[in-house]
Amino acid sequence: MKASTLLSGALLAVTAHSRDCKPRPDKRPNIVMIMTDDQDYRLGSTDYQFVLQRLIKAQGVEFLNHYATTANCCPSRASFMRGQMVHNTNITHVNAPGGNYDKFVASELDQDYLPHWMNAAGYRTEYIGKFLNGYGLTNYLEAPKGWHHVDALLDPYTQQFNTPVTSINGGRPIWYTGFHQSDVVRAKAVDRIEHLTSQEKPFLLVLAPSSPHVQNDIQETVPLARHAQDFENVTAPRTPNFNPSEEFQKQKGSWLPTLPLMNDTIIAFSDHAYRQRIRGLQGVDEIMEDVINTLEQKGVLDNTYVIFTSDNGYKVGTHRVPAGKATFYAEDSNLPFFVRGPGIPKNITSKIPGAHLDLGPTFLDIAGVPQDKWPSFFDGQSLLPQWHDPESSTGDGNGGGNAKETLNVEFWGLCIVEAPNAAELGVPFKKNSYKTLRIVGSDESWLYSYWCTGEVELYNTAKDPYELTNLALNPTPEVQQLLNRLNAILLVTKSCEGGTCRQPWGLLQPNDKPNEIVSLKQAMDPKYDVFFAKFPKVNFKECLAVQDVANEQPFYPPLPDNGSGGLGRGHRTTPDGWEKPKGKQVLRSKGKYGTAEQRHATLEDVMKNAHYLTDDEIAGKPNSTQQKRAIEVQMLEPSWFEWIG
Ligand SMILES: *[C@@H]1O[C@H](CO)[C@@H](O)[C@H](O)[C@H]1NC(C)=O
Ligand SMILES: *[C@@H]1O[C@H](CO)[C@@H](O)[C@H](O)[C@H]1NC(C)=O
Ligand SMILES: *[C@@H]1O[C@H](CO)[C@@H](O)[C@H](O)[C@H]1NC(C)=O
Ligand SMILES: *[C@@H]1O[C@H](CO)[C@@H](O)[C@H](O)[C@H]1NC(C)=O
Ligand SMILES: *[C@@H]1O[C@H](CO)[C@@H](O)[C@H](O)[C@H]1NC(C)=O
Ligand SMILES: *[C@@H]1O[C@H](CO)[C@@H](O)[C@H](O)[C@H]1NC(C)=O
Repeated sequence: MKASTLLSGALLAVTAHSRDCKPRPDKRPNIVMIMTDDQDYRLGSTDYQFVLQRLIKAQGVEFLNHYATTANCCPSRASFMRGQMVHNTNITHVNAPGGNYDKFVASELDQDYLPHWMNAAGYRTEYIGKFLNGYGLTNYLEAPKGWHHVDALLDPYTQQFNTPVTSINGGRPIWYTGFHQSDVVRAKAVDRIEHLTSQEKPFLLVLAPSSPHVQNDIQETVPLARHAQDFENVTAPRTPNFNPSEEFQKQKGSWLPTLPLMNDTIIAFSDHAYRQRIRGLQGVDEIMEDVINTLEQKGVLDNTYVIFTSDNGYKVGTHRVPAGKATFYAEDSNLPFFVRGPGIPKNITSKIPGAHLDLGPTFLDIAGVPQDKWPSFFDGQSLLPQWHDPESSTGDGNGGGNAKETLNVEFWGLCIVEAPNAAELGVPFKKNSYKTLRIVGSDESWLYSYWCTGEVELYNTAKDPYELTNLALNPTPEVQQLLNRLNAILLVTKSCEGGTCRQPWGLLQPNDKPNEIVSLKQAMDPKYDVFFAKFPKVNFKECLAVQDVANEQPFYPPLPDNGSGGLGRGHRTTPDGWEKPKGKQVLRSKGKYGTAEQRHATLEDVMKNAHYLTDDEIAGKPNSTQQKRAIEVQMLEPSWFEWIG
């Protein structure tokens, strides 16, 4: 079909749906979640987000201990949308063999995930921006299921900031020439909120701009033109773990000790990369500003939860990595997490731990769905009680509240570095599988990690927040007792499902009495030394790129011999040959968009220069005539593309 016919057909068939101004009968709160891509928390990026500070932090709660359980985009997003640990979704990487969008679909995880649950609860569900890695030109027809409206960035353009291309509900890809991706997402978000607030249902809207992810071909993020000169003197923070000395670097496991000290050229790159990232985040702040202002104009702001977070963290210069993610260190796994909304106190900082896999349960809780109607495979728990009472607990177990003390952080497959000297450093680092435990309590906090190489790292993160002194090297007898406890907990959490993930102590009771031990502090009693020493050791036979059962024995409790239970396999399929060919990039905007004049560009402005990709462009054929072919789009009404696809 010709693109132009499709477009004019769409325009003719538009139905006006914004006319209904009756008050909404359903008063349940709306949810707007803004999720950035690869944003650090520990390196202070949110300090430069003045809109975030003013419109969310001062009006709500900042959670200091929110973690991604896998520090990588696609696994973390899949975990969020399924409410499960990554070992249970088995979407373990952004590419084959670990996973991507194709695997998410082939595993049938998309038959039973967030939008379906919220739809069933009577919400309207919409998604704008980056979905899961691998959704792109070759498979856009198989649009993410469930959403009433999904307008997803398409690979290979998802991180081409000045060449934004999306598919609306699986429709023909559209290229928004002359605009930066952040302005496109912003204009679309405002338009959708205008629509969403005119209809009867409460809504869930997820906004997922790609900033501050790097544009892969140039290894740095690309801000809007109007922010390209901001923060000219800002540098990457020189935290104690920035480019650490050999004394510290050699205490790390796997590939980290092979990294050389960063020289002045590389440090200058890191500083530039850091600046580009906070510049890129200004565009995200503008999305947030317009979204919150629109919610306010529509009179629904007070009845809307607005959440700001990222899919995973990032490091710039720490542990000698010039720029990158995918490790278990705090920079990569601790996330920005801010929320405002009904019943949430203002201007509070909370230490209560949480994870992305808790958001599914939280959203169902907001929707008023009783717990016995939630999916049985949830590994997380609702955070709503903590949001409403953020100073209630620090999560040290102690049997009280429902805050958790233990966070499981895991990874399979290779790690890259996003810097010009990456190849010289030896990327990809193939030995990057590990199993990690974070204990986040008020009395104790630890980072314990077991690498696929057999190496172990242990940090007292209360005393050593920069994770520099590895206590597992030549452990004292006292540390050995702690390691025995941590090994036992990790043995449980590395394959936990459901309630066991929420309360791993349930499987670690020495006398078969429930709740004899509910915190690490209690478990440290010397009377339990023998009990904890008896557990088999967490192990990998070798460093593999996938979660392979034989490679990761033993499991506790043991997995059924028939290979069909455990690791979430009861709630998904395990497909073969799911990987689809990737699309080829043939479009490349020459300009740098996002000028000051475009700050308030509306969707109508954006659509004036938008056009459908030709068959050749979709097929990735070179020498397409894209530049000459801009189709003038006449706007009939703002939400004209509602039904396309
Ligand atoms: C938020 O709290 C901080 C300190 O707790 C205080 O300095 C600041 O003025 C407060 N901001 C607002 C907007 O209330
Ligand atoms: C950055 O540093 C230069 C040189 O010290 C100075 O002239 C300039 O005013 C600084 N810019 C900002 C925004 O502070
Ligand atoms: C730093 O290292 C990079 C990569 O090895 C090299 O290209 C560059 O010349 C070095 N710079 C300095 C100042 O030594
Ligand atoms: C996870 O996925 C990989 C790659 O698709 C597959 O080889 C492996 O068997 C799966 N593991 C589990 C436990 O399902
Ligand atoms: C596999 O074994 C488990 C536990 O023994 C059992 O519950 C399950 O039904 C078995 N599945 C199949 C397909 O045989
Ligand atoms: C594309 O077109 C240009 C100009 O017509 C030509 O020089 C080039 O060789 C063509 N490339 C391919 C791959 O056909």
